[in-house]
Amino acid sequence: MNPEKIVLGFESSCDETGVALCTTDGRILGQALYSQIAMHKDYGGVVPELASRDHIRRLIPLMDDTFKQAGLVMSNVDAIAVTTGPGLPGALMAGCAFAYSLAMGLNLPVIPVHHLEGHLLSPLLSATPPAFPFTALLVSGGHTQLMGVEGLGRYALLGETLDDAAGEAFDKTAKMIGLPYPGGPALAKLAEKGNPDRFKLPRPMLHSGDFMFSFSGLKTAVLTTAMKLAGVAQPSETMQISDTDKADLAASFQAAIVETLVKKALAACLQQDHKRLVVAGGVGANQLLRGQLVKTAQKRGIEVYFPELNLCTDNGAMIAFAGAMQLAKNPALLNTRSYSMLTRPRCELAPLNQNGAN
Ligand code: KG4
Ligand code: ZN
Repeated sequence: MNPEKIVLGFESSCDETGVALCTTDGRILGQALYSQIAMHKDYGGVVPELASRDHIRRLIPLMDDTFKQAGLVMSNVDAIAVTTGPGLPGALMAGCAFAYSLAMGLNLPVIPVHHLEGHLLSPLLSATPPAFPFTALLVSGGHTQLMGVEGLGRYALLGETLDDAAGEAFDKTAKMIGLPYPGGPALAKLAEKGNPDRFKLPRPMLHSGDFMFSFSGLKTAVLTTAMKLAGVAQPSETMQISDTDKADLAASFQAAIVETLVKKALAACLQQDHKRLVVAGGVGANQLLRGQLVKTAQKRGIEVYFPELNLCTDNGAMIAFAGAMQLAKNPALLNTRSYSMLTRPRCELAPLNQNGAN
């Protein structure tokens, strides 16, 4: 019998549908991804109902592509992993209903995966994966957290944002200056042409002495500056700001948020006495953040690890991988047959995994 088991993983927590096949020794055998960006663009953000319906349309074709790529068939699968939370309730329901029904029909175990655990472990899929323990900076559209990671399933929350997540701040600020959804990459691109020193924007909670973040004040500072530049007393979506001003504002905003993330992440890593810092989540694709982290960390003898660029944002590979790692650690999961589907739109990573359950 082949000692390696094969896990089929599904991700559908927000606006990406992802499917992948991963072995319990961590090899991705096939993966397929569909991003709904084009569909949500006209609305300036994710429309949850549209997202849920689209996941339903994409799951089967993406699964077929994944099997084709891997040269495998359904009977090769040993377990099914699926994101059960956090995320949009309807979007999670779509993926979970599909994954649980499939598992039940095939008499396979289901491995529930926490979306953030997927992000957290995604750097382990890169060519030079980090060893445990490490400090992780999780920066996505919905979360900004610093975690101490001692091993698989052993996560301690060190700090998080009190209000907006880093990606959310990028997206909202981008919208304010008239950039299209998704704002993060668009703002980062515009910032390349701007002067990051032109506007002195706040670095919120930089000296708070803990690992908490707050980005809503920074967003307000951008809005106030944009109103001044446009010469208006009330904010509006049609504020007239020159292209140079927009680029300088984007660059100044990006510099402020990156400086805060870098300093807090490094401080957390040093406090934990970790030699490795791992960055994951959509904002981990930001080039300034990557560059600044590496530069600052090197001076302190800390190695920085990132997921491959295509694995920074949501994908099925990280979910199949997280499921496969859970199975490798606990082969008894193969004998479970629990099909009472429970989606968790809001759920913490640390307490769930400390109990060994999701
Ligand atoms: O991890 P992710 O795909 O979804 C969530 O789990 O939330 O992250 C998406 C977030 C969005 O807010 C997006 O604007 C941001 O990541 N993002 C970026 C960049 N690429 C994606 N933010 C800044 N710079 C980027 N290059
Ligand atoms: Zn995500």
